[in-house]
Amino acid sequence: MTVLLIAGSPSEKSRSAALLDGVQQRLRRRGAHVERLQIRDLSPQALILADLGHRSIADAVQRLANAAVVVVATPVYKAAYSGVLKVFLDLLSQTALAGKTVLPLATGGSPNHMLALDYALRPVLQSLGAKQILPGIYATDAQVKLSSQGAYQIDEDIGARLDEAVHTLITETLRPPPPTGRRFAPVPFSQVRCSV
Ligand SMILES: Cc1cc2nc3c(=O)[nH]c(=O)nc-3n(C[C@H](O)[C@H](O)[C@H](O)COP(=O)(O)O)c2cc1C
Repeated sequence: MTVLLIAGSPSEKSRSAALLDGVQQRLRRRGAHVERLQIRDLSPQALILADLGHRSIADAVQRLANAAVVVVATPVYKAAYSGVLKVFLDLLSQTALAGKTVLPLATGGSPNHMLALDYALRPVLQSLGAKQILPGIYATDAQVKLSSQGAYQIDEDIGARLDEAVHTLITETLRPPPPTGRRFAPVPFSQVRCSV
């Protein structure tokens, strides 16, 4: 089963993409097949005009269709998700996320807009038919720091939340436990005792 990581920031060097990197490393360590889609790499004109026939768009839509799990990362822009992510979501069919599990991630300048994941992004993911939307993970810019080497580093707290989310994805979606059959041995009717 494939996990598609969607990067929704227009920036090349991106904090929300650093959260995706964290998810990607954790999933790969656990043997998951992971692919990445950078919306900023798609044709901007085709995105704006919702040109589904354009090769880059058709390819992105197909990759989404092939994925069982989708991780969406976005910066908070003006108290919501990015416009880049919005133009991509707008050109998808109404059932593009049917049967899929989705993990939403976001970064923002301050904690004030952490609920944007719930009031802005989650309803859109729901409207596209997602089977399950895991609790979102929000990091402030202070929790995704730029190191002296110029790479983003994720705070321990956020790392622990990514660990938890990836564990849930692996155990509940990508490798659900095998059916255990009957949980209890059948009790013969003659042994059933009632309290009346
Ligand atoms: C146009 C624009 C609008 C923004 N609006 C908000 C906002 O409303 N609330 C907030 O907390 N941060 C806001 N920010 C800060 C970004 O969300 C934050 O820096 C984020 O980590 C950037 O993610 P990225 O590096 O993946 O693009 C805004 C930044 C830009 C450039």
